[in-house]
Amino acid sequence: MYPRDSSVEDGVLSIGGCDARELAREFGTPAYVVAEADLRSQARTFTEALGRLHQGPGEVVFASKAFPCTAVLRVFAEEGLGCDVASGGELHLALRAGFDPARLYLHGNAKSDAELEMALEAGVGTVVIDNEQDADRLSGGGPRLLIRVVPGVDADTHEHILTGQAGSKFGMAPDAARALAERIEVAGLHMHIGSQLRSLDPYRRAVAALAQVGDFEVYDLGGGLAVPYVAGDDVVAPEDWVDGMVAAAHAELGDDVSLVLEPGRALVANAGVTLYTVESVKPGLAGETTVAVDGGMSDNLRPMLYGAAYSAAIVSRMDDAGGMCTVVGKHCESGDVLVRDVTLPDPRPGDVLVTPVTGAYGYAMANNYNGVPRPPVIFCSGGDARVVVRRETYEDLHGRDV
Ligand SMILES: Cc1ncc(COP(=O)(O)O)c(C=O)c1O
Repeated sequence: MYPRDSSVEDGVLSIGGCDARELAREFGTPAYVVAEADLRSQARTFTEALGRLHQGPGEVVFASKAFPCTAVLRVFAEEGLGCDVASGGELHLALRAGFDPARLYLHGNAKSDAELEMALEAGVGTVVIDNEQDADRLSGGGPRLLIRVVPGVDADTHEHILTGQAGSKFGMAPDAARALAERIEVAGLHMHIGSQLRSLDPYRRAVAALAQVGDFEVYDLGGGLAVPYVAGDDVVAPEDWVDGMVAAAHAELGDDVSLVLEPGRALVANAGVTLYTVESVKPGLAGETTVAVDGGMSDNLRPMLYGAAYSAAIVSRMDDAGGMCTVVGKHCESGDVLVRDVTLPDPRPGDVLVTPVTGAYGYAMANNYNGVPRPPVIFCSGGDARVVVRRETYEDLHGRDV
């Protein structure tokens, strides 16, 4: 679960060659810590697999919503990925990070006129049509157009992040997509059936549904590959996912089509950890220990949104056995629980606690609940740590007051 570029020596965790205790001391907590080498190696895993398995044109596109941070985007631009943006803000960040506008994909089920204008002015290469209103506004030439199709498949994930089922708020039903493709010129189809998907099966069914819509030049099959959050999480490896997607595409759509894959989570999740300081420790009701840290639902909303499971450890006693604990945040809601059922070795106030696998949708969904400034993002590599996003200040909290 921890970044590949991390290690434990004498029970102490290092990320990118940087001692986690020192990181906490130097940059404060909570802090998002990212092993930069993991971002790069994960990007290469996807691009190399696609290049090896698919001889036709194609590209891997980072779904920027997973970690919309300029430094992260810059790494992926350097690694030759394209970028999926789903708002004017994400488009702004992607352009700022140096992406070639031609490699950008604009998504969204509620695009504003201003966002479309911004995309057209910037020269965004591909716009994904979600609905008839998009089609009316875009059919006059300019970017390459894809239609987002709702393939009508179910998948095994939390209902809030399931998007390919009939009736989904995203995209168009196959019949409507077919009718639209007869009316306006489109290059191809897009699908994104959901997130944190642990099986290739729903993808295969979805690709088969796309094949029924007609023959096109480009197929963007979306993202959604699951990552392991806790020990024993059974997921498909990125190479196997690309293999399965390419095989489904070749079987159903032909092997010379242009193939686009759009992972978000799987490119960033395991590269990132969050460091916290333990502030208080008290006995829980069922014999467990309640460990309260200096962050919570303001820096990681996923446990609150989806009951998402995480693990935790004390960075200076990684190898020690421990007792059952619940890690809670500092926010004024009882649901602000970061990690349930985790064993921690005698946690004490002042300990630095780490939760791995926070690289995806943590920073992205961070907020200022309880007036808590959002954490910094620290890149670690080769024993060097650098701040790529500074911690918010109290002044930032009223910086927009007029
Ligand atoms: C259109 C689209 N593509 C790709 C993704 C990335 O999904 P994931 O982070 O699960 O790979 C999303 C996520 O919501 C999406 O909406």
